[in-house]
Amino acid sequence: MGREELLRPDTVDPDDDDDELVPGRSGDDGGLRPTSLDDFVGQTELKQHLEILLGAARMRRQAADHLLFAGPPGLGKTTLANIVAGEMNVALHPTSGPAVERAGDLAAILTKLGEGDVLFIDEIHRLPRPVEEVLYPAMEDFQLDIVLGKGPAARSIRLDLPRFTLVGATTRTALIAKPLRDRFGLVSRLDFYDVDDLEAIIDRAAGILGVRLDRSGSHEIARRARGTPRIANRLLRRVRDFAEVTADGVITAELAHDGLALFGVDQRGFDKVDRAILGALCERFGGGPVGLSTLAISVSEPSETIEDVYEPFLIQQGMLMRTPRGRVAMPDAWAHLGLQPPVTVTPEPQPGLFELAAEDDTIED
Ligand SMILES: Nc1ncnc2c1ncn2[C@@H]1O[C@H](COP(=O)(O)OP(=O)(O)OP(=O)(O)O)[C@@H](O)[C@H]1O
Ligand SMILES: [Mg+2]
Repeated sequence: MGREELLRPDTVDPDDDDDELVPGRSGDDGGLRPTSLDDFVGQTELKQHLEILLGAARMRRQAADHLLFAGPPGLGKTTLANIVAGEMNVALHPTSGPAVERAGDLAAILTKLGEGDVLFIDEIHRLPRPVEEVLYPAMEDFQLDIVLGKGPAARSIRLDLPRFTLVGATTRTALIAKPLRDRFGLVSRLDFYDVDDLEAIIDRAAGILGVRLDRSGSHEIARRARGTPRIANRLLRRVRDFAEVTADGVITAELAHDGLALFGVDQRGFDKVDRAILGALCERFGGGPVGLSTLAISVSEPSETIEDVYEPFLIQQGMLMRTPRGRVAMPDAWAHLGLQPPVTVTPEPQPGLFELAAEDDTIED
């Protein structure tokens, strides 16, 4: 694995040791995944909503309402699904949108659920439409319609399902059909974490991993973690390696700075791909607007990765903007790259309709 790959804020790396709990993946993050709401740092409002919702369901001895967690990769969606199952003291059945190919696959999963269990569907926006349609009555009425046989002999039977809680996770709320979205009792968006929260996450992880670091060290890592717990944990591991090889093992700000610089993470937490995106936008396309696919090709990354993984943070940091005509670099992007923005970053206002009409008049005259 290359150095950049180690630090890519990506989710698809099969060797990643903090992969999520979906079939075929290890789900082993070295014990860093919080297992209770109390251990889950930040996202105060979301936690409050969950506490009330789960507390009430526990009191009524009922399955909790269906929950949808949305937000960029690495912010804790899978972790929350595990926590929900843990807090409700029920089993978690994890799967993911692309893994459930046919309606029959979903039927098999649904009929195996126990009373109150949590069914976790990661990347729920990638469920095929016919599967989604089986999910609707299951979510709403806890019933499963199965068609047996084909043609005129086909008959449909209806099965009762146990009351379960569906937890969906998605990086793309916009791609979730409205009927599906409307069937969730709570739709929560996870936000990027602030530096204080990330420090707390890093200190907690350091405790678990037995890494020694001082306050300035955890602050330095937190500052560069792109607002993302997964990246905070990953940077901590890399800095730990660096500290073990080059120093006596205690992570200070200076050591964190040197270690992260070695791995290509800059002052703002941007990595090589972030800088390539900004570089292409400013230098090659004069600041934009440039279409997503053109931008993706110019940095050799899939469009979806740019859109899901890199852009949300660059936008949050005020580096680029999405406009109907394409991506546009913001003044901060030029400054970050040490470049002078062109004199007019925003295009000259075009003549309005009336001015054009007036000009036409003059020509006619
Ligand atoms: N609030 C938090 N407090 C402490 N650690 C956290 C928190 N959120 C996430 N983490 C850590 O970050 C890692 C990544 O979180 P998680 O796998 O839940 O992200 P995700 O939103 O499911 O990402 P993806 O969209 O890529 O599936 C976890 O293994 C966990 O260690
Ligand atoms: Mg996940």
